[in-house]
Amino acid sequence: MIKSSKKTIDFGFRLVSKEDKTNLVGTVFHSVALKYDLMNDLMSFGIHRLWKRFTIESSGVRYNQRVLDLAGGTGDLTEKFSRLVGEKGEVILADINDSMLHKGREKLRDLGVVGNVNYVQANAEELPFPDNYFDCIAIAFGLRNITDKNKALCAMYRVLKPGGRLVVVEFSKPINKLLNKAYDVYSFYMLPVMGQVIVNDANSYRYLVESIRMHPDQETLKLMMENAGLEHVSYINITGGIVALHKGFKF
Ligand SMILES: C[S@@+](CC[C@H](N)C(=O)[O-])C[C@H]1O[C@@H](n2cnc3c(N)ncnc32)[C@H](O)[C@@H]1O
Repeated sequence: MIKSSKKTIDFGFRLVSKEDKTNLVGTVFHSVALKYDLMNDLMSFGIHRLWKRFTIESSGVRYNQRVLDLAGGTGDLTEKFSRLVGEKGEVILADINDSMLHKGREKLRDLGVVGNVNYVQANAEELPFPDNYFDCIAIAFGLRNITDKNKALCAMYRVLKPGGRLVVVEFSKPINKLLNKAYDVYSFYMLPVMGQVIVNDANSYRYLVESIRMHPDQETLKLMMENAGLEHVSYINITGGIVALHKGFKF
């Protein structure tokens, strides 16, 4: 088991300095940005769309609200939130990576999503928003890429309004041993090959698979959210725990 220390952190199965991790993750998403959506559909057989729909339904977002789609990448959640909050609401798509943000902005403009969406390049660890600002923060498949997850969770807590909620949807630990084995075979052997063929970059997809294995399991993430101050934290396993949706509130 790879153990991070005060100075080092996991980047997939390697230990690197914290600064290097942030840069290496940046390189991954600069490299995959153009074909990110296509790869998501191919790798998950389209199932990521259902995971995201479930996330939106679980968020409880309503008309007029202010929502942060954090590590929002190419904006799948933002598109749906934008329609839910309506013209008097606001959605901020924030991501650290300008290639992903650029791709997201282009895609949403083509889909006619304009008016109530703003784009912010920001590190989740140091959110450039006032305290008590958002009704809801959603982070989809972003948390495991963040260097200091605890710091980022505290930053999310700070910018949530009292009564607001944080929804984290992320790859997690399958609960069934057989499913886990099949999932391992598929992801360790197939995904880097698909990455090589489609994006000409096997390494980024090797990182993706390894980062999923290094991410805290369901109970650990629940504890991390509680330690950041969130209350009534609960989670639901989706697709047998391949993905888990955690939800917590600020009171
Ligand atoms: C796997 S993508 C998920 C994108 C989108 N949320 C989705 O579900 O399709 C992960 C995103 O996290 C972003 N990211 C990584 N580290 C970040 C950080 N420290 N702060 C903000 N965004 C970050 C990446 O740039 C990338 O766009």
